[in-house]
Amino acid sequence: MATDSSTPDASRPQIVWHDHVVSRGEREKLLGQRGCVVWFTGLSGCGKSTIANALDQQLFQAGVKSYLLDGDNIRHGLCAPATVLAEEYGQELAQRFGLGFAPEDREENIRRIGSVAQLFAAAGLITLTAFVSPYRRDRLRVREWLQAQGRITDFVEVFVDTPLAICEQRDPKGLYQKARAGLIPHFTGISDPYEAPEAPEIRLAAGDGRTPRELAAEVFHYLRENKFLLGEKPPSEASPSPGIDNGE
Ligand code: ADX
Repeated sequence: MATDSSTPDASRPQIVWHDHVVSRGEREKLLGQRGCVVWFTGLSGCGKSTIANALDQQLFQAGVKSYLLDGDNIRHGLCAPATVLAEEYGQELAQRFGLGFAPEDREENIRRIGSVAQLFAAAGLITLTAFVSPYRRDRLRVREWLQAQGRITDFVEVFVDTPLAICEQRDPKGLYQKARAGLIPHFTGISDPYEAPEAPEIRLAAGDGRTPRELAAEVFHYLRENKFLLGEKPPSEASPSPGIDNGE
């Protein structure tokens, strides 16, 4: 049966985009910065969370409004596994929406994070994300989503390039050991692939002895040079000065 504009199409949700009364530009002017997503990617144990936290602290100390979405934490809520969801919501919902580490679970994990990160960037925040995000296609989709919703510069991909051997040696959560023993399926770098970015905005060679603070300062410098930080506090007011390792 043909449908005309007066006949609701039951197979399509009727959702319409509403523009906000307060524009992104107005928010950014108020905040004195340009929103963006700084997307850290790399193997488990490569240091991405530590570096992202150090950057978040440096930005905070410089008066920049930022927020970090971190893989392990987000998997406690928005992207919780089925076992956690089942307790509160029952098996059926848990099986539908709970996420593990199979490729399609990671695809959905990154889709949800990408969506949330886009909203944060639209709110004018320097949004930091730290996810393994091993698949190029998933990261590219986030990049394209952000660019379509905002600006071409909205996605800053940071490849934390720590060799697998170093990550495995560190093994902060003992996961590599378990994965080698066959106890964790789909473990990135061991039984599942990691597809390194081909043209990231920033590549951090993170196994070369530099501290997380020094590596974070490299990203801070990029954000400053590329005019994301407009209302940054002058160095005399910022304490301690970003990029200067005070030995903490
Ligand atoms: S992602 O691949 O979907 O982006 P995410 O960053 O959310 O992964 O979560 C990765 C974290 O979960 C790792 O830092 C590690 O602590 C833990 N983890 C548990 N199982 C796996 C696995 N199979 N592969 C990778 N990380 C795992």
